[in-house]
Amino acid sequence: MKPGYSLMRHYLQFKDFRAEEYAYLFERARVIKQRFKNYEKYQPLTDRTLAMIFEKASTRTRVSFEAGMYQMGGSVVHLTTGDSQLGRSEPIEDSARVISRMVDLVMIRTFEQSKIERFAAHSRVPVINGLTNEFHPCQILADLLTYLEHRAPVNASGYDLNCLEGKVVAWVGDGNNMANTWLQAAEILGFTVHVSTPSGYEVDPAVAGVRDTGCYKVFKNPLDACRGAHLVTTDVWTSMGYEAENAERLKAFADWCVDAEMMAVAQPDALFMHCLPAHRGEEVTAEVIDGPQSVVWDEAENRMHVQKALMEYLLLGRIG
Ligand code: CP
Ligand code: NVA
Repeated sequence: MKPGYSLMRHYLQFKDFRAEEYAYLFERARVIKQRFKNYEKYQPLTDRTLAMIFEKASTRTRVSFEAGMYQMGGSVVHLTTGDSQLGRSEPIEDSARVISRMVDLVMIRTFEQSKIERFAAHSRVPVINGLTNEFHPCQILADLLTYLEHRAPVNASGYDLNCLEGKVVAWVGDGNNMANTWLQAAEILGFTVHVSTPSGYEVDPAVAGVRDTGCYKVFKNPLDACRGAHLVTTDVWTSMGYEAENAERLKAFADWCVDAEMMAVAQPDALFMHCLPAHRGEEVTAEVIDGPQSVVWDEAENRMHVQKALMEYLLLGRIG
């Protein structure tokens, strides 16, 4: 972190930041994105290094963090379980102590949330959650930035986050890391998630870390969850790490495919999002994901812009 800036923060779950910090971050993301689109050089992280630790596969998370760090003047080190001592049972605490003496920032994609928390507890530098079994906060950052870009007025201090209040996000599918993170975002930013999952795959407020009132409502029928929604979103039926359950999930989730009928009962201008990778014909039809209400490519691109704002914030604090 820059000299004189001593407040070390981690970003391990969405509720690690307050609403007012999100307002700042989305505005920084907007400015950073605009500059990048104008080919204006912005390299506040020259000589800084990001270590990226992947214990699960990735396309977007790797490319967005790596490209984003280079664009800001820094470098990255890419580690996987298979090509590091992490896969040969070096304790996570020791890995954290060593890696964090050599780099300025760490991004981790792993299995249990407890693992990233143990790493962070022994790290000298900020740690970012690049997806765990329980949460995917960087993805929801990108999803919200995308929603704001498409739907929010920009006032003198940036996007007006008040526009999120009272909005409805329909979550159709697995009660997984994405669903949990949507719930945390709803609790902090004042919207409601309508959750519909097959039985046995419900969200658990204790795991999501939210009070089980107010920020979400549960619907048996996914069509009812979508009714009146401003945003309809879903995710793969089988998340990474749960592949052994694939066959039973294919059967259980058959009615939780976002299709034109679900989009038709949502608001007429409802957006569709998916964190990707997508399986057309499973959790979403090709007609919806490739249709006019889908903003999935903006959503994927925004991972990079919002994570640049996040890295800047964790390393340099507020700019200006
Ligand atoms: N959405 C997302 O995190 O994609 P990757 O798994 O490709 O990183
Ligand atoms: N829920 C999915 C998200 C992938 C980006 C998974 O954890 O595999």
